[in-house]
Amino acid sequence: MDAAGLVRRAAPAAAVLTGLGTCLPRTEIPNSALADVLDTSDEWIRTRTGIAARRRAAPAVSLADLAGAAAGNALRSAGRDTVDALVVATSTPERPCPAVAPELAHRLGQGAIPAFDVSAVCSGFVYATATAAGLLAAGLADHVLVVAAEIYSRIVDPTDRATAVLFGDGAGAVVLRRGTQDEAGALLAFDLGSDGAGRDLIRVPGEREQPTGERWFTMAGRQVYLQAIRHMSNSALRVLKDCAWDAETLGAFVAHQANARIIDAVAAQLGVPSWAVVRELALVGNTAAASIPLALADAAAAGRIGPGARTVLTAFGGGLTWGSTALIWPELAPVRSEI
Ligand code: UT7
Repeated sequence: MDAAGLVRRAAPAAAVLTGLGTCLPRTEIPNSALADVLDTSDEWIRTRTGIAARRRAAPAVSLADLAGAAAGNALRSAGRDTVDALVVATSTPERPCPAVAPELAHRLGQGAIPAFDVSAVCSGFVYATATAAGLLAAGLADHVLVVAAEIYSRIVDPTDRATAVLFGDGAGAVVLRRGTQDEAGALLAFDLGSDGAGRDLIRVPGEREQPTGERWFTMAGRQVYLQAIRHMSNSALRVLKDCAWDAETLGAFVAHQANARIIDAVAAQLGVPSWAVVRELALVGNTAAASIPLALADAAAAGRIGPGARTVLTAFGGGLTWGSTALIWPELAPVRSEI
């Protein structure tokens, strides 16, 4: 009891965002380059998706190269050399086994820390962040590195205009530390969900499912479009309710950067002011799990997200999976690079 007779309870433990880094491949593929080889046009792609260009990893660049550069940048942004655990979100692993995370921990000189991959497609960053928050809350780690890295150019059929125009390569990473809910940067609420009935809407077939021929990524675009709007709106709403925030008070709303029309539809359903809606996909396309940290870094570097902004992140992807979280944006200098 303090002097006023009130019982003061310590704020519950929380994962606090303390570093943000990204890495993009140098090669930019403008819409015009795709229109040269596919039955599509710059106008169709811009008006239907808001995408003008995407990045493509050079053949010599591995997922670990891209992820490692983003992870190193996040550590520099956090001003740290070491973490206690590493979680990677990816849907474009180089191989089914082993995960890339141990390789990454080794490359980053992190010793024998726990390191594993999370597979939740475009929701992977939010799922991996929630997993990291669990490790921090359980006292299993004080600092966790979360890396989302994707090289879709290796799983998308270059002759399929329905997918080739959408996806791009890139990586984003954050450092989370154990702190309290009253700090700026604390992840205040999570909502996670899945619906396996929609498992065929976004997929790369396995060897048993498709024994012969190229096993490319496929997506039922229109159905995914509708499900993405529905699930991101509902999930973000649950997080807003948990935080007792009105959508009108948001300073930044960062939905998975799949398509500008989807982002705008979700924001409109929730009543987010249009100036708070983060759209950073024009020059990178849909980078799957990497899209939220890439958008956060670009928006923060450009001053579109500033310290103190009520921020909601929401994602949707194959599985189907979805997830959202919320935070007050902290003082943070993102570190970005190209490879
Ligand atoms: O990251 C995981 C989550 N992914 C997403 O959330 C993506 C969700 N889906 C989408 O973003 C959109 O559905 C697309 C951008 C994929 C497609 O936009 P849409 O407005 O839903 O178009 P649509 O699929 O209804 O197709 C309209 C027309 C079709 O022609 P018909 O049947 O009307 O003659 C398509 O064949 O547009 C055609 N089309 C294209 N035309 C030119 C499809 N892709 C292209 C293209 N260029 N690249």
